[in-house]
Amino acid sequence: MQKYNLDEQKLFEEIKNGKTFGKDDTLPPLFRKKLLNLLWMQGDSEYSGALGYAPWIEKAPTFKEKVIVAQIVKDEMRHASVVFKLLRDLGENPERHVEESKLSYKLEEDEINIGFTRAKSDFRVNIFYYQIKYWEDFVLFNFLMDRAAGHQLEDTLESSYTPWKEAIGGIYKEEIMHIAHGDKWIKKLASDPEKKDFLQERLNLWWPRVMNVFGNSKGRANDIYVRLGLKKRSNAEIREIFRKEILDMAESWGLKIPEYDESLQKN
Ligand SMILES: [Fe+2]
Ligand SMILES: [Fe+2]
Repeated sequence: MQKYNLDEQKLFEEIKNGKTFGKDDTLPPLFRKKLLNLLWMQGDSEYSGALGYAPWIEKAPTFKEKVIVAQIVKDEMRHASVVFKLLRDLGENPERHVEESKLSYKLEEDEINIGFTRAKSDFRVNIFYYQIKYWEDFVLFNFLMDRAAGHQLEDTLESSYTPWKEAIGGIYKEEIMHIAHGDKWIKKLASDPEKKDFLQERLNLWWPRVMNVFGNSKGRANDIYVRLGLKKRSNAEIREIFRKEILDMAESWGLKIPEYDESLQKN
């Protein structure tokens, strides 16, 4: 079990009692380190998410859908710029990072599952390494990943780092719209006998990938992000809420959610 020094233990206690940090406050080293981890992860995910969605402006099935996809791409790019601004205010250099990292990189192999491993040294959540090959993947991304992110952002609405907390409201609202887009389409494709089997096939492929974004359970009992007020619930708790929600919806539309075994995922 990780040991924390007296200053850190005092910090956990203060945060538990409602202490927050603002833009001009000196951040305790542990707090700053963990905050930066989360911000980089979100920034790179929003940005590489936007790039992965962008080709679908052209490839979406109807003009109406092309407009919606363009809106989603714009939303994700804006989310990236909001998070990158927070990083810049903390003395980081996200613009240089965008220029130097290959954030448009995608894995080539369609059916691969990289488990909890990373494909490159950027900070994105690893689901953003997979390519969106079919329209089914695009809407599954809205249905699954935007929902997973939405649950995680919900915790940020109460973050102990106030600039992040204040920035997240608008992002959260837009993610809710992306989720609604996914739900509408998954329901529609599931009720179409010609489309349903392929949708199920792609769902089977994406399910472990999205479950993996919550990380593995090791060390979760000691969730440092919760102690620092940067999250409210452990990843394991959020994953369970997410899984149940998806299960109920999928079942009501006649789709099956495959078994997920964390221990079989590559580390
Ligand atoms: Fe986003
Ligand atoms: Fe989104």
